[in-house]
Amino acid sequence: MFGVRNGPPTASAAKAGGAGATLLSVKRVALLGATGSIGRQALEIVRADPALELVAATSGSQPIDGLAPHTQVGGDPTELLERSHPDVVLNAVVGFAGLPATLWALERGITLALANKESLVAAGELALAARERGGGLLLPVDSEHSAAFQCLEGRTPETVATLVLTASGGPFRGLTRADLEGVTVEAALAHPTWRMGPKITIDSATLANKGLELIEAHFLFGLDYDRIQVVVHPTSTVHALVWFRDGAALAHVGHPDMRVPISYALTYPERAATPVAPLDLAAGLTLEFAAPDEDTFPMLGLAREAGERGGTYPCAYNAANEVAVAAFFEGRLPFLGIADVVDRALASVDGSPAGDLAELVEADAEARRAAQSVLEPVA
Ligand SMILES: NC(=O)c1ccc[n+]([C@@H]2O[C@H](COP(=O)([O-])OP(=O)(O)OC[C@H]3O[C@@H](n4cnc5c(N)ncnc54)[C@H](OP(=O)(O)O)[C@@H]3O)[C@@H](O)[C@H]2O)c1
Repeated sequence: MFGVRNGPPTASAAKAGGAGATLLSVKRVALLGATGSIGRQALEIVRADPALELVAATSGSQPIDGLAPHTQVGGDPTELLERSHPDVVLNAVVGFAGLPATLWALERGITLALANKESLVAAGELALAARERGGGLLLPVDSEHSAAFQCLEGRTPETVATLVLTASGGPFRGLTRADLEGVTVEAALAHPTWRMGPKITIDSATLANKGLELIEAHFLFGLDYDRIQVVVHPTSTVHALVWFRDGAALAHVGHPDMRVPISYALTYPERAATPVAPLDLAAGLTLEFAAPDEDTFPMLGLAREAGERGGTYPCAYNAANEVAVAAFFEGRLPFLGIADVVDRALASVDGSPAGDLAELVEADAEARRAAQSVLEPVA
């Protein structure tokens, strides 16, 4: 059964009886990456909900003094997490740097609200083994995966035919490789439907984000890659859709607004109110879908290949992408070079499975070295 096999959350807004009194047991939230796009929206959700209490917050480099009783800038947050006793950890760090917190929460059975997809992509098997030992909840915050989680909850895997992840197509949808020669960072950052941090916005423009999400979905829902389809859906109204074996589909629809999946993960299973309005269906709604253009945007196919090969190939895909995106930001690599660097780095790494965290960290480092060495001649 999807979604429920690890039991209820550790602390929910439970009601205690007695003379009609209602006691809210407040959920203690640790917010990692509090200064980012997800982090700031999560703060809004937490501040508006008396059943949520911010007990810890971190950032990478920006000051966050006074934001929460326990704060930390940079470094490994696991000691801070130990001290702050959270009921739920919202991991909204960007990149592989989010891995220690993901493993910390899963290992201890503390509910993990996961925005940091890179940690699950890089360390899928280790993360799932930690979740198995810890027995806690892993709640996706990525909008597509939150949507899929809700469509799949309570279903058995054999009833699912295909999970469909939707992609907006990013700012360069419909363009050719020739059009993409020399596109600027500013153009790549102009996402049509989502306002997000810079790295994920570039990942959306290359379709690497959908590649990461494909691998993330594989690990979250235990579906083989041939049962996960990606389609382009420019308005991002349908966040995910699941086809069942009887020919019926369940879809999750709404405005593209990350406060909805953030709130869902933080308040699960209650589903608190948010300020996000429903779609105005009476005003008309047109849903458009198309196959992704994998020739122009090879990062999606590379992700599928890395995922199917397994081992540490997904880790290498993520690491090489992080290096290539950083080089694009620094003006050392053209937009089309991102996929070239990842492709060539994947071809040169070992890719064998990591038995433990040390081996995974080494696989990540190997892929970064491979990407750097490809990058130098390319740049
Ligand atoms: N934004 C979205 O709508 C969205 C949607 C779905 C999934 N996600 C995922 O959510 C995660 C966060 O995305 P975002 O868009 O919120 O990114 P973002 O705006 O760039 O924010 C990243 C956060 O992580 C912190 N950080 C950066 N490097 C760090 C490090 N080495 N150690 C600890 N903290 C570090 C940053 O702190 P500083 O500010 O101090 O640098 C910031 O608080 C990503 O994995 C992304 O893929 C985002």
